[in-house]
Order: sequence, then structure tokens, then C-alpha cells
Amino acid sequence: MKLTYYWIFTTRPQSFLSPRECAYSVLRLRRLRLWEFTSRDGRKIVVRHAMPEDARHMHDGFCAVVEEGKWLPTLTPNGTISDWISWIHRARTSRNVLLVAEIDEQYVGHLSLQPEEWDASQHVASLGLIVMKGYRGIGVGRSLMHVAEEVAIENEFEKIILSTFSSNEKARRLYESLGYELVGIRRRHFKMFGAYVDEALYEKHLSPEMGSH
Ligand SMILES: CC(C)(COP(=O)(O)OP(=O)(O)OC[C@H]1O[C@@H](n2cnc3c(N)ncnc32)[C@H](O)[C@@H]1OP(=O)(O)O)[C@@H](O)C(=O)NCCC(=O)NCCS
Repeated sequence: MKLTYYWIFTTRPQSFLSPRECAYSVLRLRRLRLWEFTSRDGRKIVVRHAMPEDARHMHDGFCAVVEEGKWLPTLTPNGTISDWISWIHRARTSRNVLLVAEIDEQYVGHLSLQPEEWDASQHVASLGLIVMKGYRGIGVGRSLMHVAEEVAIENEFEKIILSTFSSNEKARRLYESLGYELVGIRRRHFKMFGAYVDEALYEKHLSPEMGSH
């Protein structure tokens, strides 16, 4: 079951705010929202927008998944905690989205949405997702994906794209179960520790009428 609520409300009635202040407070409220889900083992999964205090967990979490050497095309842990703090700040003032998931108030994974680089592709968000080893298979990834779609629509994205190693069956099953369409395979796109890996490309149109070409 999903429950969405705000944990801080503005104390000033919206009618007393200028349009710019209104837009800012709506954005602020959106960033303070929490979503709750129940994990397969009965625990509460909380999904929320990332805050600067999450930077260290996100950095360490990303490095831990890179170190597994199986799931991401990054070969060695990179970036610094400061990079993550900058990204979180950017996400609070732009259409970038960074969501974290927590169980028992512990960071267990995160998801990013970034506008595509081209001017003409600003309606397209590129999605990245990791869940910490030890918390996989209990619904964390699915919870983050559900919230991502809701937030993407709010941020005026019309399509989400993502890619994964074609050998990553868990990820592919998750994306396909949520209606992501396989739109191509890039053969031998990555070389992971000497072995070629194909890349599976997925996309989902967020407004139903855009689904057909
Ligand atoms: C792929 C990943 C994000 C999925 O997140 P997750 O929290 O483990 O997935 P969920 O528990 O929400 O499961 C969602 C679906 O994934 C699939 N799945 C999850 N665990 C699975 C497993 N052990 N075997 C097969 N399918 C599995 C199922 O389709 C599942 O659907 P269900 O909930 O109806 O059973 C996560 O396993 C992960 O971070 N892996 C390492 C990093 C990675 O691969 N990131 C994605 C790169 S594109």
C-alpha cells in the first residue's frame, strides 16, 4: 500500500504569497514530501527527495555497487561526497530528481532522473537506480520506480529512458513489469574486465497517447 503525505506545511496562506513565492513554496513542499510503501518482509520503505545529509550514504552506496563489479559500467568507484552534495543541490533547484529510499531510517538505495543533454530532448529523463545488497528483492526498487514516475510527470517529463546490462535479469524484470519497452540492444557495448556485455535500452512514455509511434 502506498501513502503519500507532506511532513511540513507552509504557515502562510498561498494567497498572501507572490506568484514567484508560490511557485517556490510549491517546489519546496514537493521536495519535502514522503512516500511510504510496505516491503515484502513487512517493513516500512520510505521514499523521499535527497537532502545534502544523504550525500555520504549515496556516495558510499554507489561505490559499493560499483565494487560489486557486475551491475554498472563504471569500473572503479569515482566522484566525491562534494560532487554528490552539488548534485543534490542542483536537484533541489532544477528538473533533476534524486530520490532516496530508507528502511528503519537507514539509506537502502537511490534513484536519479536527469534531463537528456540535447535542447530538443528536454522532455526526456534518463533514469538510474541502485539498491543496496542486503535490501534487494523486497520491493525497494519497485517503490523508487513508482515515485520516479509520479515526480517525472510533475517535472514535465514525457518519457523516461534507461539502460541496463542485458544480463541483468532482475533489473529487466522490474522494468518490464512496470511497462518499460525494450527498444534495442547495443551489442558488445561495454567491456567489463575483459568480457563484452550487451546493453539493453528501455523507454516508457508517460502520457498514454504517446506510446504508439
Ligand atoms: C535491479 C534492482 C534495482 C532491483 O531492485 P530491487 O529492490 O531488488 O527490486 P524489487 O524488490 O523492487 O523487485 C522488483 C522486481 O524485480 C524483479 N526481481 C527482484 N529481485 C529478483 C530476483 N532475485 N530474481 C528475479 N527477479 C527479481 C522482480 O520482477 C520483482 O518483481 P516482484 O516485486 O513482482 O517480485 C536491484 O536489484 C539492484 O540495485 N541491483 C544492483 C544494481 C543494479 O542492477 N541497478 C540497475 C542497473 S540498470
